[in-house]
Amino acid sequence: MQTVTTIDALRSAISLWRIEEQRIAFVPTMGNLHAGHIKLSETARQYAERVVVSIFVNPTQFGPNEDFASYPRTEQQDQEKLQACGADLLFLPSLVQMYPQPIKTHISVTHLASLHCGASRPGHFDGVALVVCKLLNMVSPDALLLGEKDFQQLAVIRQMVSDLNMPVTIHGVPTVREADGLAMSSRNGYLSAAERQTAPMLYQVLCKVRQAILSGVSDYQTLLLEQGQALQQAGFVVDYLQVCRQDDLSSATLADPDLVVLIAAKLGKTRLIDNIRFSRLASV
Ligand code: PAJ
Repeated sequence: MQTVTTIDALRSAISLWRIEEQRIAFVPTMGNLHAGHIKLSETARQYAERVVVSIFVNPTQFGPNEDFASYPRTEQQDQEKLQACGADLLFLPSLVQMYPQPIKTHISVTHLASLHCGASRPGHFDGVALVVCKLLNMVSPDALLLGEKDFQQLAVIRQMVSDLNMPVTIHGVPTVREADGLAMSSRNGYLSAAERQTAPMLYQVLCKVRQAILSGVSDYQTLLLEQGQALQQAGFVVDYLQVCRQDDLSSATLADPDLVVLIAAKLGKTRLIDNIRFSRLASV
């Protein structure tokens, strides 16, 4: 695996592959790689001869009181993991490479980016859209691999790519979980031992909500209120817990068949997000 730190070196490696008519799949990350990221890189191989992974902790998607400074940076271990999983190229740009001057261009995916996490983290998805747009312009991949773990991020980027006619196909990859159900995340490392014991409850609640809806419960509001209270009793501070339509992430009605239950909650200082998607028409 090659590692490059400049846009010029990235583009020349890619142009050599393009001459050979090889397809390129791209996995953007912020590093501190876990099995979820590795799954994305392995899945990428199904769509292209060459797999490019980027690691860049993007400051524009962090709010002023968020964890940009303390976000785990583990480049050495990350490189070893990528090497082992057969990625072809790691793009590891510096802050100056990505943002050489104060940026004057903004990308806002309206509405979608204002819901859920966007409401609690103003500007977050603008930062995500901006950096993903820049990275896509640098890598010019055929395929872009994104995790369903960040369901709203996936929806925002799909919308941007469609609105801006970006010539890339997006593939969503199902969430990779720990044995106890907790969705893998770089932020799980912030949890204390006691919080780590409690954290899987988030996914258990999502499964309960899905089960209840599939068994015919139609009062979503009461269902969510009860489950939110159970989480609060266990020590979570729930930001949102909602049953939404998969296509536009707005609140689901009983007429909507394709649903996603979205949750964000804080456990101590750690903000966790998760989701579960399913079709109401599926049998229990
Ligand atoms: P990061 O949190 O590092 O995640 C990189 C990619 O891995 C995202 O597409 C995310 O959805 C996916 N991912 C994370 N945890 C996963 C899991 N448990 N199972 C499957 N996929 C998982 O998301 C970002 O970085 C950034 O916002 C980024 C898109 C790189 C822009 O800066």
